[in-house]
Amino acid sequence: MAIKHFLQFSDFTLDEYEYVIERARHIKRKFKNYETYHPLVDRTLVMVFEKNSTRTRLSFEAGMHQLGGAAIYLNTRDSQLGRGEPVEDAAQVISRMCDIVMIRTFGQEIVERFAQHSRVPVVNGLTNEQHPCQVLADVFTFIEHRGSIRGKVVAWIGDANNMLYSWLQAAEVFGFHLNVSTPKGYDIDPKLVSPGNKSYTLFEKPSDACVGADLVTTDVWTSMGYEEENAARLKAFDGWIVDNAKMHRANADALFMHCLPAHRGEEVAAEVIDGPQSVVWDEAENRLHVQKALLEYLVLGKLD
Ligand code: CP
Ligand code: NVA
Repeated sequence: MAIKHFLQFSDFTLDEYEYVIERARHIKRKFKNYETYHPLVDRTLVMVFEKNSTRTRLSFEAGMHQLGGAAIYLNTRDSQLGRGEPVEDAAQVISRMCDIVMIRTFGQEIVERFAQHSRVPVVNGLTNEQHPCQVLADVFTFIEHRGSIRGKVVAWIGDANNMLYSWLQAAEVFGFHLNVSTPKGYDIDPKLVSPGNKSYTLFEKPSDACVGADLVTTDVWTSMGYEEENAARLKAFDGWIVDNAKMHRANADALFMHCLPAHRGEEVAAEVIDGPQSVVWDEAENRLHVQKALLEYLVLGKLD
């Protein structure tokens, strides 16, 4: 049987997401009740980080322990990965010693090449182009707070980055609409959007993109790997802050999300991220629960 990977959001069908979300609910309930749940005893997750992380490392490592398995952390600084070993060779070796791999790296092609040479499932823990685990947590968080996301409107205010491209895929799978507003010069790369994707509308003004939104979301203006563009980006993104004025254009019960880490006063005002519509802490916590469900599904398949 072909190995199942999770390299981008479009890798799973709606049916698979419905299953994983149900399992995440179940696994979260057990966690909250301090019930031991060890379906992955003797299984090992290897986590490869070529970029920094707090939430992704913590949620995968804690999650794997909570499922009864072990997690091993490798990074570029103190492994051979930073010294030019081909990704294909690393994939062969790493995947012979574990049951599942999570990778955070630069180009999407790196996780794809790794997966092609891996004997075990590979999970994308963020690339320049995609961040599917985060968007899975975000969709789960929306459903927890508001019920089905089908037919809803999500406003994306900010950079056309990995988060937006995963949201665009999620909109197609789940049947919701994205209102997107990015500054000139930082707009969507059509090569990273599926040709038939009709799930989004572009808005010149960020405040117009918020009108009618059930969820307003944003992210840093400078993603990891683009640090040298920071000064230019600060200028270009002037006006794209999500503040109360923009939130007031959205529906009265709109939620606010941010994958974190956040910069108050840049992409989001403190009044919003620390305000009553913000669900950012639930969103961060839900990384743990959805990824436990994802690990369980990728290693064990659907449970009866
Ligand atoms: N949101 C997210 O992926 O956070 P980290 O970079 O801390 O892992
Ligand atoms: N877009 C951000 C997300 C960080 C979790 C980045 O890639 O740095």
